[in-house]
Amino acid sequence: MFAAFRVLLLLSLFSLLSAQLHDQRQILLNLKSSLHNSKFSKLFDSWNDNNSVCSFHGVTCNTLRSVTEINLSDQTLTGALPFDSLCNLPSLQKLAFGFNYLYGKVSEDIRKCVNLRYLDLGNNLFSGPFPDISPLNQLQYLFLNKSGFSGTFPWQSLLNMTGLLQLSVGDNPFDFTPFPKEVVSLKKLNWLYLSNCTLGGKLPVGLGNLTELTELEFSDNFITGELPAEIVNLRKLWQFVFFNNTFTGKIPTGFRNLKGLVNLDGSTNRLEGDLSELKYLTNLVSLQFFENNLSGEIPNEIGEFKRLRSLSLYRNKLTGPIPQKVGSWAEFDFIDVSENFLTGTIPPEMCKKGKMTALLVLQNKLTGEIPATYGDCWSLKRLRVSNNLLSGTVPPAIWGLPNAEIIDIELNQLEGMVASDIRNAKKLASILARQNRLSGEIPEEISKATSLLSVDLSENQISGKIPEGIGELKGLGSLHLQRNRLSGSIPESLGSCKSLNDIDLSRNSLSGEIPASLGSFPALNYLNLSDNNLSGEIPRGLSFLRLSLFDLSYNRLTGPIPQALTLEAYNGSLSGNPGLCSVDAINSFPRCSSSSGMSKDIRALIICFAIASILLLSCLGVYLQLKRRKEEGERFGERSLKKESWDVKSFHVLSFSEGEILDSIRQENLIGKGGSGNVYRVTLSNGKELAVKHIWNTDVPARKKSWSSTSMLGTKQGGKSKEFDAEVQALSSIRHVNVVKLYCSITSEDSSLLVYEYLPNGSLWDRLHTSRKMELDWETRYEIAVGAAKGLEYLHHGCERPVLHRDVKSSNILLDEFLKPRIADFGLAKVVQANVGKDSYTGVIAGTHGYIAPEYGYTYKVNEKSDVYSFGVVLMELVTGKRPIEAEFGENKDMVSWVHNKARSKEGLSSAVDSRIPEIYKEEACKVLRTAVLCTGTLPALRPTMRAVVQKLEDAEPLKLVGIVISKDGGEKKIGVNEKK
Ligand SMILES: *[C@@H]1O[C@H](CO)[C@@H](O)[C@H](O)[C@H]1NC(C)=O
Ligand SMILES: *[C@@H]1O[C@H](CO)[C@@H](O)[C@H](O)[C@H]1NC(C)=O
Ligand SMILES: *[C@@H]1O[C@H](CO)[C@@H](O)[C@H](O)[C@H]1NC(C)=O
Repeated sequence: MFAAFRVLLLLSLFSLLSAQLHDQRQILLNLKSSLHNSKFSKLFDSWNDNNSVCSFHGVTCNTLRSVTEINLSDQTLTGALPFDSLCNLPSLQKLAFGFNYLYGKVSEDIRKCVNLRYLDLGNNLFSGPFPDISPLNQLQYLFLNKSGFSGTFPWQSLLNMTGLLQLSVGDNPFDFTPFPKEVVSLKKLNWLYLSNCTLGGKLPVGLGNLTELTELEFSDNFITGELPAEIVNLRKLWQFVFFNNTFTGKIPTGFRNLKGLVNLDGSTNRLEGDLSELKYLTNLVSLQFFENNLSGEIPNEIGEFKRLRSLSLYRNKLTGPIPQKVGSWAEFDFIDVSENFLTGTIPPEMCKKGKMTALLVLQNKLTGEIPATYGDCWSLKRLRVSNNLLSGTVPPAIWGLPNAEIIDIELNQLEGMVASDIRNAKKLASILARQNRLSGEIPEEISKATSLLSVDLSENQISGKIPEGIGELKGLGSLHLQRNRLSGSIPESLGSCKSLNDIDLSRNSLSGEIPASLGSFPALNYLNLSDNNLSGEIPRGLSFLRLSLFDLSYNRLTGPIPQALTLEAYNGSLSGNPGLCSVDAINSFPRCSSSSGMSKDIRALIICFAIASILLLSCLGVYLQLKRRKEEGERFGERSLKKESWDVKSFHVLSFSEGEILDSIRQENLIGKGGSGNVYRVTLSNGKELAVKHIWNTDVPARKKSWSSTSMLGTKQGGKSKEFDAEVQALSSIRHVNVVKLYCSITSEDSSLLVYEYLPNGSLWDRLHTSRKMELDWETRYEIAVGAAKGLEYLHHGCERPVLHRDVKSSNILLDEFLKPRIADFGLAKVVQANVGKDSYTGVIAGTHGYIAPEYGYTYKVNEKSDVYSFGVVLMELVTGKRPIEAEFGENKDMVSWVHNKARSKEGLSSAVDSRIPEIYKEEACKVLRTAVLCTGTLPALRPTMRAVVQKLEDAEPLKLVGIVISKDGGEKKIGVNEKK
């Protein structure tokens, strides 16, 4: 009887088991059918009806042949996981699906997987919130990082998981929440990864109780307050990473106890105090505390750390010397201690093991020489020691470092010459050596450094000729050799550097003729050859260049000024060349005698044409002036009569006299020099501030001339610069909050003044990129983007006739005291002539390198869409925080191609967003960047209008934080509301 019972029991157990085994197969085959992977993968070949489920690839069973683990990590799987059936596997303990492309929501059914010890869904493409998993109280490992989960994470589920050893939920776009106190109850935790998941508030009390922690990371959040003292109890930590938060206070006392630390990164916080607590952390391999307010000296002990490979402490307030033995022990990789107040010399042995890639110590007060040891450091890619007090000779081998991409020694007192070793510098893209005491000749071997994109050797004592071989540098974009002692002629071969956009050879002793080949540069934007001994005629080709700066003044040029350069002649670019003559009766140039080069027929034709144009223009001018005078007379009544005798032309009611303005045009009030004139800041007796732009009408550069009392209306048309006319014409009829306000113009025979409102916060360029920069938060940047877009929209669509700005750039966007933007500088603006056809317009083309739309390169026909392109570049500056041209953009050289490349790359547009923009705004920033990408499309027709741009930007409006609520549990919760929605 007992035996029979046993048989029965066995039988029933067996049938139960086989039923389950049958179910298992169903469940796994169901899983297989829910997932897809690459056609060529053999992953699921073993998952068929003939095999035992326990021999399915990735499946593990226990001794009862019940499935315990499914491990399909990193198999390029797509599809959604069927938790409803999966969780019916009765013995399932481990699910590993990390590093795939799984998508969809994780369903509530996962709560049935109550036996799970190990769950890895990290690095996938899920969406929606992650469900409450309180029933999974056996979990030891939970990996959900970088998986697309959003909303609120169910932190309270953790309270039930007292056995949890590793928790990783970072890199998910969760809603803003205080740092979860729940983790404090996870006493066994050895790994906690909470970076980049929108956490705020302070670290919870009790974090120091998690003494099993070996890795602790919560970087890229909004955590505030001080590092709690109890953190020093985490003696087992080997990795502690908390960069990019807003921690304040000091590195806590006792931090020195964390002797196991190998990797420590507290960068981009607001920590203060000194680094003395770090001096016993002798096991550190990587030490990073850049962008804090740390002061004091770098402990000398750090120089004895035997395993240290990287040290990054830039942008602090550190003083004293760099430990001289730093980096001399292990395979040291890089040092960046730039932008501190460090003194002493550069440690000599950081490349002892031959692995160093970056030596970055710029902007300190370092003295002594560049140690010769670095000439042998073939691994070095970046050598930047600029803006220090370094002296002595640059070790010749430095110039030949085979892997160096940038050599930046500018703003020191270094001597020596550019050595012929440079022939070996095959990867060198930038030489920055401005303002040193380099001497000798530029070696012919520079022609072998064929990766060069930019060379700046200006303000040194370099002599001899510019090497003929320079033409070999096909990628060269920028060549600055000004203020040296160069002689000989400009090599004709320079014409083969087809990428050149920026040439400054001024203030040397160059002689001979200007090579005709210079006129054939497609991309040239800036050409300064002034203050040399150049002779001969101006090559005709130069007339066809489209330059934002063109200066041939103070040479010995002769012959007629080409017709197309008449405008240049007016603004002084040709002055100081007594041998030049003018065909068109340009003031201050003698008339060309009839014997000069051209055939009589052509001359006659040109003269006829010129006379006809002048007649036509002056008729038109007189007509317009009479008309305006009449209108103004009507508008202003008596005022206009007075005005006439004062040669003031006002567009707003004035509270000052022109005498007050004229008296203030003095050197000490100079605040800027633009392409077309100087800008002065004028404080009136009533305290009001104005900005005054001074434009010389003829080529009288820096001498003050007496002001004529001729009325502007009586001034000869030929006496004023065209830029002046353009600007006045464009601005006088414009009134918009986002366009700079022009109060009046004051003119004399030889110069003109434009009186504007003064904007105290300078230009957007200054705010973003120069030493006057200040942190612009995302909301401010966004407001600037929208405001500037509206200003430009008004110019294009709001006036009687569209006004092209033609030099849209961040330095032409000024900011008022509330940082509201105003479009400024219409020096190049032209009102689109109604009779020239709506979308084609011919004129002098200019602009600024980095902002110029590609169509300028191949056609003179440009329209509003070219402004849209330039505005797109401004948007990119706002979102990326970078300049339009940066060395880091590499071969592509400008921001537009860099951003477009990002957009196409796997990392995506978001990787281009300024890291200072908080995570919660990243999405909006990306939207703005996407608009910028549209604006900078190659085909003008496909770019949006400014009207559409304004629309798109308004759609990207950031959340407005309207309050902080203290919730029941004491945590803070920011409440965000989109004002528009
Ligand atoms: C947490 O675990 C306890 C038992 O350990 C259980 O009674 C409780 O239901 C669990 N909580 C939830 C929300 O499932
Ligand atoms: C931060 O998280 C987002 C998702 O919220 C992710 O796309 C991004 O790559 C993460 N950043 C880093 C540096 O991993
Ligand atoms: C941390 O541990 C101490 C001592 O064991 C205990 O008194 C304290 O309550 C713990 N703190 C928290 C928040 O768990």
